[in-house]
Amino acid sequence: MIAALNRVRTTTLALSTAAFIVLSAAALAQEAVRPSLDVPYVPTPPEIVDRMLDMAAVKASDYVIDLGCGDGRIAIAAAKRGARALGVDIDPARIQDANDNAKQAGMTGKVGFRQQNLFETEIQEASVITMYLLTSINLKLRPRLLDLKPGTRVVSHAFDLGEWRPDETAQIGFRHAYLWIVPAKADGRWNVQTANETFELALEQSFQQLSGQGYFGGKAVAAYGKLRGNDIEVKLVDGLTLRGRIEGDRIQATQDANWQASRIR
Ligand SMILES: C[S@@+](CC[C@H](N)C(=O)[O-])C[C@H]1O[C@@H](n2cnc3c(N)ncnc32)[C@H](O)[C@@H]1O
Repeated sequence: MIAALNRVRTTTLALSTAAFIVLSAAALAQEAVRPSLDVPYVPTPPEIVDRMLDMAAVKASDYVIDLGCGDGRIAIAAAKRGARALGVDIDPARIQDANDNAKQAGMTGKVGFRQQNLFETEIQEASVITMYLLTSINLKLRPRLLDLKPGTRVVSHAFDLGEWRPDETAQIGFRHAYLWIVPAKADGRWNVQTANETFELALEQSFQQLSGQGYFGGKAVAAYGKLRGNDIEVKLVDGLTLRGRIEGDRIQATQDANWQASRIR
């Protein structure tokens, strides 16, 4: 009897040792393939997700990319608003969760998830970018964000983009969400034609802020203005205000105003 018990004990011990070795090896293997994260996983609360998507005015025609998508909640919420959405995350465990959540939400046709480093993600086609990263990561992404199509909306939970001031800030409890509208490129020299005159306008651009001068014959008049996507407003200190829309190398007047401009190369 005792011999039999001892045999069982020895076998159990051998089996648990083997199981421990197998599990430890699996854990080690998983640890080995686990990518290092630039940002830890912390989910955005649902009310902030909704507010971010409201700020970006997400609609059915949008293509939303969430950089560092976690469990996919922002991309899935965007898909529920009818948008096409993509979430990328470097951590395969998050992508697994995101796919499970999309399935549960019945959104698999509208939203996709990809295990990918966000610095390698193609974002040019997006009309909305969402992020809950860190300012240091946002700053590394900033040149690429500024190069997106004018009018693309960028929304970030909690972390800003440094000197690129947000176009809109929301405070929800102790949290903040920020919206930027990618500005068109307006810096350079423009030939402006109004109903009464033609003059040169030289603009310098810092993100969505403009400053410069209008040249009327030999006289220089200071100008300042701003951009919201393709929409431009320039005020000359002598009182003239120009509002229009930049389309590449041309500006067309808005609000029935009678002026236009073309870029001087
Ligand atoms: C703060 S969480 C945000 C999750 C989700 N966007 C949200 O707001 O609920 C940041 C996410 O970024 C992911 N991440 C960190 N570094 C990354 C990288 N280099 N490329 C892609 N994803 C990354 C993390 O795995 C994590 O899921």
